[in-house]
Amino acid sequence: MKRIRSPKKFQSLCLSLRRGGKRIGFVPTMGFLHEGHLSLFRKARRENDVVIGSIFVNPTQFGPREDFDRYPRNLKRDCALLAKEKVDWLFTPNRDDLYPEGYQTFVEPGALARGLCGRSRPGHFRGVATVVMKLLNLSLPSRIYLGQKDYQQALVIRRLVEDFHVPAEVKICPIVRASDGLALSSRNSYLSPEERRRALCFFKSLGTAKEWIGNGERNPRRVRAGIRKILVPGLSRVDYIEILDARDLSRIKRISGRIVIALAGFVGKVRLIDNCVLNVPG
Ligand code: PAJ
Repeated sequence: MKRIRSPKKFQSLCLSLRRGGKRIGFVPTMGFLHEGHLSLFRKARRENDVVIGSIFVNPTQFGPREDFDRYPRNLKRDCALLAKEKVDWLFTPNRDDLYPEGYQTFVEPGALARGLCGRSRPGHFRGVATVVMKLLNLSLPSRIYLGQKDYQQALVIRRLVEDFHVPAEVKICPIVRASDGLALSSRNSYLSPEERRRALCFFKSLGTAKEWIGNGERNPRRVRAGIRKILVPGLSRVDYIEILDARDLSRIKRISGRIVIALAGFVGKVRLIDNCVLNVPG
């Protein structure tokens, strides 16, 4: 695997690959990689001629009181993991490479970005959409691989690709979990062993909600109240518990069709999210 830092050089490389008829599979990340990230690289490896990843902790998607400065980083370890997955190129720009002095253009996503994490993290999806647009214009992929773990992000990016006529296919891949069910996340590294145990309430509440719905419960209000009862003892603060139409994140009066149960909350000072998508008959 080769590493490349300069956006100009990276884009020329990708252009010449595309001109040579290669299909590029692209996986954007912020690093501190885990099996969730690696599952995306493996899928990209199976489906493309060339696999390209990026590691960039994007300052514009963090709020002023969020964890940008202490976001976990370990480039050396990440490179070793990606080399093992036979990734061809890794793009690792620094802040000034993507946001030089005088930088002033941003991508503003619409309704999809307003609820859920968009509500509790103002400006977050504007930062995500902006950096992903840049990365797409540099890497010129045939396919971009995203995780369902960040379900709202995946929908915002899918919409961005469609709205800006980006000639790439968006692949949304399943959530990878630890053996006890905790969704893998770079932010899990902030958790103490005790907090990590408490964080299991996300997975537990999703499983229980699935059972209720499987047994015929169709009232979103009752399911949300039931989830809250499971989350409250584990979390220091619940951010949101939502049951929405999985296609456009709109509100639903009755649970049926393709729905997403989306959760966010704090374990100690650490903000975590989880979700599950269900196909519910009638
Ligand atoms: P990051 O949090 O590093 O995640 C990179 C990709 O890995 C995202 O598409 C995310 O959904 C996916 N991912 C994370 N945990 C996962 C899990 N447990 N199972 C499956 N996929 C998982 O998301 C970002 O970075 C950034 O916002 C980015 C898109 C790179 C823009 O800066």
